[in-house]
Amino acid sequence: MNRQDKIIEYFRYLKDVGENELPIPDMAESGRSSGNTSQSEYEKNKRLELSDYKSKSQRLNEIGNEIKNCQNCALHKSRNNTVQGMGNPDADIMFIGEAPGAEEDRLGLPFVGRAGKLLDKILVAAGLTRDDVFITNILKCRPPDNRDPMPAEQIKCMPFLIRQIEVIEPKIICCLGRISAQGILKTKIALGKLRGQVHSFRGIPLIATYHPAAILRNDNLKRPTWDDFQFMLKTLEKLKEKE
Ligand code: URA
Repeated sequence: MNRQDKIIEYFRYLKDVGENELPIPDMAESGRSSGNTSQSEYEKNKRLELSDYKSKSQRLNEIGNEIKNCQNCALHKSRNNTVQGMGNPDADIMFIGEAPGAEEDRLGLPFVGRAGKLLDKILVAAGLTRDDVFITNILKCRPPDNRDPMPAEQIKCMPFLIRQIEVIEPKIICCLGRISAQGILKTKIALGKLRGQVHSFRGIPLIATYHPAAILRNDNLKRPTWDDFQFMLKTLEKLKEKE
C-alpha cells in the first residue's frame, strides 16, 4: 500500500467510525503560527470536511442504482433483474464474466447457476471465497436465450464496468471466458493464446482463463483453468511484494 492509499484508507476508517470532520491542530493556539497564513484562511482550512467522502460500497451502490434504471440498450426490455455484481468492494481480485444467464436474471446475482457453483468450487480450492473477491460481468442484463453479447451492447455497458473497476481498484482482473477477455482487451486473439500472459486493462494487470460453463462442457479444461488460477495467484503475490 503506497502513502496515498494509506491516507485514503485512514479517511475511510474515520468515515466508517462516524467521523465527519478531520481535526487539524490549531497551530495559532499552540503558538506555532505559520506566519504567512491569515487567521481566516486558517479557520477555513482547520477542518477538512469529509462529508463528500463516500465509501466504496456507497459508490458501488450508486452505480448499481444507475444500472437498475439503465435503458441504454434493448436488453432492459426482456430482463427481470439487472446483475451489477457482488463481493468485496476492497477485493484484490475482480472476476469478469460475460453476461447474466437465466438464474442470474431471476435472482439479480452473478454466477449463481451451474457455472457459478463450479466457480465457487474453484475459488474454494484456490483458498478464496466470494467474500474475498468481486464478481461481475461485461453485460449487466441477460441476453435473450443466453446468446452472445453483441458488440453494441458491450460498448453501451462498458462504462458501468469501468466505473466499478475504478471504485474497487483490484490488483488483478481475471476474465472468465473468451467473450470477456476479447471484449475487455478489444482483440480477436483466441482465448487459448491470451491465457498464460499478464495483460493490462487501464493499468491493471489482467489474466484470462476459461469460462466455468466451458469447463462443464469439457472436462479437459479443468487442469488448464487450475493452472491459470495458480498463475493469477502467483502474479498477485508478486504484485503485493512490489508494493
Ligand atoms: N455466465 C456468466 O458469464 N456470468 C454469469 O453471471 C453467469 C453465467
